[in-house]
Amino acid sequence: MVFLGMDIGTGGTRAVIVDANGKVVASASSEHAPFRATSDGWAEQDPADWWRAAQEAIRAVLTASKLQASDIACIGLTGQMHGAVLLDKAGDVLRPSLIWCDTRSTPQCNWLHTMIGREKLIELTCNPALPNFTLTKLLWVRDNEPEIYARVAHMLCPKDYVRFRLSGSYAMDVQEASGTLLLDVTHRTWSKEVAQASGVPLEWLPELFESPAVCAKVSADAAAKTGLLAGTPIVAGAGDQGAGAVGMGILKPGAVSATIGTSGVVFAATDRPVRDPGGRLHTFCHAVPGRWHVMGVTQAAGLSLRWYRDTFCPGTPYNKLNELAVKVPAGSEGLFWTPYLVGERTPHLDPEARASFIGLTAAHGQGHLVRAIQEGVTYSLRDTFTLFAELGIPVRGSVRLGGGGAQGALWRQIQADIYGHPVEILTAEEGGAFGAALLAGVGAGAWKDVDAACDAALQVAETLQPQAQNRITYEHGYATYRKIYPATRNLRG
Ligand code: XUL
Repeated sequence: MVFLGMDIGTGGTRAVIVDANGKVVASASSEHAPFRATSDGWAEQDPADWWRAAQEAIRAVLTASKLQASDIACIGLTGQMHGAVLLDKAGDVLRPSLIWCDTRSTPQCNWLHTMIGREKLIELTCNPALPNFTLTKLLWVRDNEPEIYARVAHMLCPKDYVRFRLSGSYAMDVQEASGTLLLDVTHRTWSKEVAQASGVPLEWLPELFESPAVCAKVSADAAAKTGLLAGTPIVAGAGDQGAGAVGMGILKPGAVSATIGTSGVVFAATDRPVRDPGGRLHTFCHAVPGRWHVMGVTQAAGLSLRWYRDTFCPGTPYNKLNELAVKVPAGSEGLFWTPYLVGERTPHLDPEARASFIGLTAAHGQGHLVRAIQEGVTYSLRDTFTLFAELGIPVRGSVRLGGGGAQGALWRQIQADIYGHPVEILTAEEGGAFGAALLAGVGAGAWKDVDAACDAALQVAETLQPQAQNRITYEHGYATYRKIYPATRNLRG
């Protein structure tokens, strides 16, 4: 018996097959067309492209595994969160999806705060209105494309659209639903109050499930398109951060991860919904039934380094850049990077924030720029640890690292030194698709619950300690870093 995990990411779709010991049997991926971005904050993708990539990745992973489709006991889905996929009565897509990093809906956030009240909204949904959240994107369509809004019959998030294509079912898990701003996160149900106040009919919203619950089955049509077996069960799954946390075993209070992908997330599991009255952290349901999580999001984490590479030295492998950066002392000789390339969520909640290098001199070279970017992104993630301390959210033991930022030895050590905690790396696989496969295994009954799945499947490969001298340098550096945003926020061209 094996389980298929699918991650409908921003850059591409990844499929992994995991066995009942938690070992990865095969993986495959298919790239998406790059998202269409504009300098005024629009970011769109076509849902049809996700479904095309999903079909390709499923076919490729089945071939690579040499298994029969009938060996797959259950499927778990995860993906980029928050995107608004709007469908008409027939289930046809009405317009391209406004994805997670689309920030055009600030006027709709202001409208929600006026209509409902910011504090009341945080009380009802545990979160304030942010342009990243799905409801605000839906309201932008209401205000700007009324002819499309008039035809909306269903609203889904990206991976739930792929589930719809796989099964014909409209379903969503409570972790993903937390990022729509339409969920009563405390009670794990749709918020009638928010839906009513914002004029969204509850019928547009899919049925809700806990992440490991079976909620759909592969249809005959999708089986013909993918090579899967009709009737294969599909669990609800979770958004990429929820499933990623499962893949890294961040399940109980005190467990914390830091993941540097395109965006960067510091994630802590909690046993109750801990609200940040300032709304700077997201408070969501966890993919583990009966648990919640908080997370802080740096919008352009890995994106900062990729933007630098693609703009100034296209095609250079990251390890070449790291060879230069590792020769530069901690602190990059006074050079700082603020990573606000696409605005910022935690802690500033400012879609208009802009990135900067501060402190450049003629003595700085490429190695300094690369190291300063890694340090600046990590300072930004450290801001979330600062909020955790303020709100009494515990960080026990080591911080688990994930994403591309955990691949390079330099960025791992920078993270240990700036967080001031030991950091650990897991043995093999981590990440959303793996977590989604573990959720599928729980749904299929291979493990009694998510905790048992992680106990069976996860092992720590390496632990790094913070270095005393670097800790001192970075404590001073962090104090300076925190002064940059307030000092520069009003400097706009
Ligand atoms: C989480 C978030 C990102 C996206 C894209 O709140 O916006 O993690 O899910 O990866």
